[in-house]
Amino acid sequence: MSVFILPVALALLLLSNISAIAEDEKEQQMKKTYIIHMDKSNMPASFEDDHFRWYGSSLKLVSDSADMLYTYTNVIHGFSARLTLAEAVLLEKQPGTVSVLPELRYELQTTRTPEFLGISGKHAAVFPGSVKVSDVVIGVVDSGVWPESKSYDDKSLGPVPRSWKGKCEEGKNFNSSSCNRKLIGARFFSRGYEAGLGHPMNETKESRSPRDDDGHGTHTSTTAAGFPVPGASLFGYASGTAKGMATQA
Ligand SMILES: *[C@@H]1O[C@H](CO)[C@@H](O)[C@H](O)[C@H]1NC(C)=O
Ligand SMILES: *[C@@H]1O[C@H](CO)[C@@H](O)[C@H](O)[C@H]1NC(C)=O
Repeated sequence: MSVFILPVALALLLLSNISAIAEDEKEQQMKKTYIIHMDKSNMPASFEDDHFRWYGSSLKLVSDSADMLYTYTNVIHGFSARLTLAEAVLLEKQPGTVSVLPELRYELQTTRTPEFLGISGKHAAVFPGSVKVSDVVIGVVDSGVWPESKSYDDKSLGPVPRSWKGKCEEGKNFNSSSCNRKLIGARFFSRGYEAGLGHPMNETKESRSPRDDDGHGTHTSTTAAGFPVPGASLFGYASGTAKGMATQA
């Protein structure tokens, strides 16, 4: 029997090796989204301060076919693109590149915020000042907003801070009129998500707009800044006033 078993085992071993190599090659060719952080002070003078052209040319050095998804100019300088691992490694070695990090897709999670932050009962100390006027603007990166929620009521709020430069982006189920003096801006960024999916999102399930089809972003943003809504409950449970931490933000 062992005479028979041996060749079979060998053949299996060989097969699994070949498929491991094939897997590896597929992995090598697979493109992922990377966030490329660039050092703008290192930009060659020949680009005449056109950093978008510099990003494009840096990308061209490592890939003919890579798509740039987004460019970043405020918090960091850089861009995101779909790259193979080899291209990402090559790009990381270019002068002017600070880092090349693979995009992470986070799972939505929630917590009991005031307790978590250790500020429950200390509201006045954390957010002093008039209840009517606030220049605090809170930015949340999440699954979107449901603007009809009463937590986004803007009655009794002052004008939008003059320094505000954001915008209310229109899209499916989302008009610019969805924004007000509470929800002063809303945008959506779907290119990295759709590139990861490998196909356009299914718009019968989720909106290509700031509309929150999941509920998470509405929950977190109103936990941060929601207007007080009395008589709230979850099917009769936990009844009371639902409000955010910085109700005037
Ligand atoms: C957007 O505006 C159109 C036209 O005014 C209106 O029919 C539609 O109901 C609005 N949608 C939302 C989500 O507010
Ligand atoms: C989108 O989702 C709906 C509802 O689940 C489904 O019926 C439809 O086939 C999906 N469309 C595509 C293109 O996947």
